[in-house]
Amino acid sequence: MTHLPDSHESYWMDTTPGTSHPALATDLETDVAVIGAGVAGLSTAWELARAGLGVVVLEADRVAAGITGYTTAKVSALHTLVYDRLRRTRGADGAGLYARSQQDAVEHVAATAARLGIDCDLERGPAYTYVRDPAGTDAVRAEARAAAEAGLAASYVEETGLPFPVAGAVRVEDQAQFHPRKYLLGLAADLLAQGGQVYERTRVTGLREGMPCRVTTENGATVTARDVVVATHYPVFDRSLLFAKLSPHRELVVAGLVPADRDPGGMYITQEENKRSVRTAPGPDGQRLLIVTGETFLPGTADADEHFGKLADWTVRHFPGIELSYRWAAQDNDPTDTVACVGPLHPAARHAYVATGFGGWGMSGGVMAGRLLSALIRGEKPEWAGLYDPGRLRSTVREGTDFLKHQATVGRHFVGDRLRTAHTDAVDDIPPGGGAVVRVGGRRCAVYRDEDGTPHAVSARCTHMGCLVSFNAGERAWECPCHGSRFGVDGAVLQGPANRPLERRDV
Ligand SMILES: Cc1cc2nc3c(=O)[nH]c(=O)nc-3n(C[C@H](O)[C@H](O)[C@H](O)COP(=O)(O)OP(=O)(O)OC[C@H]3O[C@@H](n4cnc5c(N)ncnc54)[C@H](O)[C@@H]3O)c2cc1C
Ligand code: FES
Repeated sequence: MTHLPDSHESYWMDTTPGTSHPALATDLETDVAVIGAGVAGLSTAWELARAGLGVVVLEADRVAAGITGYTTAKVSALHTLVYDRLRRTRGADGAGLYARSQQDAVEHVAATAARLGIDCDLERGPAYTYVRDPAGTDAVRAEARAAAEAGLAASYVEETGLPFPVAGAVRVEDQAQFHPRKYLLGLAADLLAQGGQVYERTRVTGLREGMPCRVTTENGATVTARDVVVATHYPVFDRSLLFAKLSPHRELVVAGLVPADRDPGGMYITQEENKRSVRTAPGPDGQRLLIVTGETFLPGTADADEHFGKLADWTVRHFPGIELSYRWAAQDNDPTDTVACVGPLHPAARHAYVATGFGGWGMSGGVMAGRLLSALIRGEKPEWAGLYDPGRLRSTVREGTDFLKHQATVGRHFVGDRLRTAHTDAVDDIPPGGGAVVRVGGRRCAVYRDEDGTPHAVSARCTHMGCLVSFNAGERAWECPCHGSRFGVDGAVLQGPANRPLERRDV
């Protein structure tokens, strides 16, 4: 089996300084409170500050250290096979709006980096969606046609820079890739220079909508604001029941240096082989860091180590000689009707907004969300506002099969996991480094035994909606299969929608 590094830190986190913004300690008033400092939240806050509004960003952990710190960071309007699907479900107009809004985001990143002088390893190049199985060529041909009709510089090709033959591919010119943390730390610095404020280690626990709105933080300090943006990845305040439309998927990344002459020269993705995505970034001594993403699974249903092994083996087989120096994992939410949800938090909301459901494409999507939300808050309505409106109904009905499939999966975990007997009979059965759900005194406990043999027990009921968590040994975390919440072995929230830790238990 291919050797993997022990650390799960991403290349982006490893090669940028940490941040140390203060925690919010006193009550504040401002124009807009933005909850969450990933690409979506920071982009929104920056746009608003540049437009002259007062902005306060509240981040539970650290800036650009959530999913955005563990992404692959292609900034592309080619989103695997989205255009042919959009043409069928939203018509040519919908596909055109999607293409224009996403390509606008790509250009906006390049223009902003140049304008602010942010050195974020930004590179322009072609993006490809390829298939190796000849049975898939019809789909990529149709995608090339649909993407071109939608206005992208798209064509169907059979030659790529990959070191293996493909049966066919869509190629879209002039897309981008960058170092997301270098870009966003630059954006955050400019946000402060514009008078914006950023607070870290400040988890928001309450939102009261009104005129004005008020958000409450874990330590009791409040922010009063005319408008509030919920950019917490999976919305922690879900007032239009978006959880029913969002399906989380976890995926893995490995990376290592290759000589520059083995750079495949572009950004690649395929849905085959449980998804493979390839890009490179500048490395030391003229080398390139090859970054390979893939192996997707529903959080709480798999051990990441097995999937890391598959991804690493694939990478070494196709790029012989590479030594893997990084591996990491993260998750994103797929909207069941294809398009991200960016707009009012619920149909009656006047001053509360949300950005979520980027489906693995939140770099261009998050930047697009920043531009869209800042326009809505300033009273403008970009032509693509309706396409991304979280309250849209028609498309949900048209893509009803995916919606129902998602509901069936959640229902299975919700009911099935409760009916199942405890995953292990006794705490003593759990080996060091392992974790299992055990029934203790009539209650289900999630018990992890550390390498020294000490058990650490927390409630096994997810604090979001009560599904049972299960252990991901490869990443040493409790994961909820219903909507993807993740918790540390001490019960702390690692990933929403849960916003409260798992309660400690005595075993
Ligand atoms: C492996 C992988 C590879 C990917 N590759 C690409 C790619 O190549 N191109 C692309 O376009 N997209 C890609 N994506 C998708 C993209 O990374 C995500 O869509 C995007 O980073 C999501 O950004 P976000 O701002 O919504 O979330 P985040 O970056 O997670 O930001 C949300 C923030 O909210 C904070 N928060 C949560 N709850 C609270 C609370 N209660 N109070 C305060 N703060 C809170 C969190 O701590 C976090 O910092 C990839 C995703 C994965 C998983
Ligand atoms: S994430 Fe919704 S119940 Fe756990």
